[in-house]
Amino acid sequence: MKNDLIQYYADRAAEYEQVYAKPERQQDLQRMAAILQDVFHNKNLLEIACGTGWFTQRLAPTAASVVATDVNEAMLEIARAKIYPGGNVQFRRDDIFQTNIDNRFDGLFAGFIWSHVLLDQLDQFLTQCLQWVEPGGTLVFVDNFFVPGSSTPRHHTDAQGNSYQLRRLADGSEHLVLKNFPTPAFLRQVLEKHGLEVEIAELGYYWMAVCRIR
Ligand SMILES: C[S@@+](CC[C@H](N)C(=O)[O-])C[C@H]1O[C@@H](n2cnc3c(N)ncnc32)[C@H](O)[C@@H]1O
Repeated sequence: MKNDLIQYYADRAAEYEQVYAKPERQQDLQRMAAILQDVFHNKNLLEIACGTGWFTQRLAPTAASVVATDVNEAMLEIARAKIYPGGNVQFRRDDIFQTNIDNRFDGLFAGFIWSHVLLDQLDQFLTQCLQWVEPGGTLVFVDNFFVPGSSTPRHHTDAQGNSYQLRRLADGSEHLVLKNFPTPAFLRQVLEKHGLEVEIAELGYYWMAVCRIR
């Protein structure tokens, strides 16, 4: 069994977008995309951990520009091959925890990466996210709620409270993947500690935290 998160996503890249085909989640996904298009209208955005560009394609039509980053070339290759009619998207390979990006943006979008950050690295993660955004800017984090019957069951929880799932890829390989499911109260507490004004939207399958720098 493998437990390297970055390698897991490199290996999963080709099959990643199956997660966006789950029929029961379509309404939430459409609603989330509409909220993001509104919040980031005309903004110069940084999208971190962009994966295959599923959200990039939905952010780009209303954003002024999008710089989309991911640590995995296999993900970026798929994202780059998509069509962005506005010509306002740039992709860069970057690791959130060892970043080479030192410019600032009007907004930051982080889709489905919060759940993969260890609890004791959340403050470091948020400090870095805040460094990328101008005063007055907006950060949006989205991720999954645990929904029995739709979510992969938890395999175990460690002594620090991080939870893990056992996931299988099409080649039969098994991966132990960190996947935390924060409550809205926990999200609010952590984000407010970083000085952010926070609104949390609870969709059926997903949460969205829209955060403004005061
Ligand atoms: C669950 S996927 C989310 C992809 C995309 N945001 C989406 O919502 O479809 C998590 C992504 O995080 C990337 N990732 C994992 N660790 C990272 C790190 N340290 N820095 C940057 N990207 C990372 C993976 O390569 C993967 O593409």
